Amino acid sequence: MPKILKITGLEKTYSSGNKQLTVLENITFDVDKGQTFSIIGPSGSGKTTLLGLCAGLDEPNSGTIELCGQDLCKLNEDQRAQLRNKEVGFIFQNFQLLPTLTALENVSVPLELQANKNAVKTSMDLLEKVGLADRFHHYPSQLSGGEQQRVALARAFANAPSILFADEPTGNLDEETGEKVIKLLFDLNKEAGTTLVIISHDLDLANRTQQILRLKGGKILTNERTAVL
Ligand SMILES: Nc1ncnc2c1ncn2[C@@H]1O[C@H](COP(=O)(O)OP(=O)(O)OP(=O)(O)O)[C@@H](O)[C@H]1O
Ligand SMILES: [Mg+2]
Repeated sequence: MPKILKITGLEKTYSSGNKQLTVLENITFDVDKGQTFSIIGPSGSGKTTLLGLCAGLDEPNSGTIELCGQDLCKLNEDQRAQLRNKEVGFIFQNFQLLPTLTALENVSVPLELQANKNAVKTSMDLLEKVGLADRFHHYPSQLSGGEQQRVALARAFANAPSILFADEPTGNLDEETGEKVIKLLFDLNKEAGTTLVIISHDLDLANRTQQILRLKGGKILTNERTAVL
């Protein structure tokens, strides 16, 4: 199986005051192209940190990250941003919508910046897909948490990414909306072959992915395939 993500010997340390805090240690795993993959573990175990490193949003202290055939450590920040724009979708745990842009603009502006001529139409279609056709012109502060999460989802889909990283994509949603969002994610995987890497506290969701990486205290506890084909 071709790999879309290869992580080797990753270590991440934060310094706070005069103390060094190692939050990820000796992390090695890879993700097949087109795979559905989940990362689980207790709060503070390093999941969000790991996802940020995988997507090239942050740099490790040691180890290597190969994303879409490129060694991220050999790219500068601009080159990493270019690779992200082209290949990567990211759904943040706290959404990170731009507060001064409407729902529609939050989805369309990144596309417009890439000179996409269908930016607005594409964005409207995506917002419709996540059930927000009547919220185009609302600002994030005028949207509920779950609605903001769905705008973030539409934005993550917008560039038709080859790999989508989602940090607790259903964390703020009721069961019914959560199920809709999950369906959208898995449909994207099936229809477009988008690789999914999902952080979740929801074991049921993790069990629907093909592989589960379990973290504890910044280390890999297990990395197992599930019965899902
Ligand atoms: N910028 C930072 N500076 C210092 N420590 C940090 C920083 N970011 C994260 N940490 C620490 O790293 C550890 C891992 O954080 P991370 O956000 O990756 O956890 P998580 O597994 O995503 O947790 P949760 O399930 O609560 O979202 C935590 O103990 C956190 O306090
Ligand atoms: Mg987190």
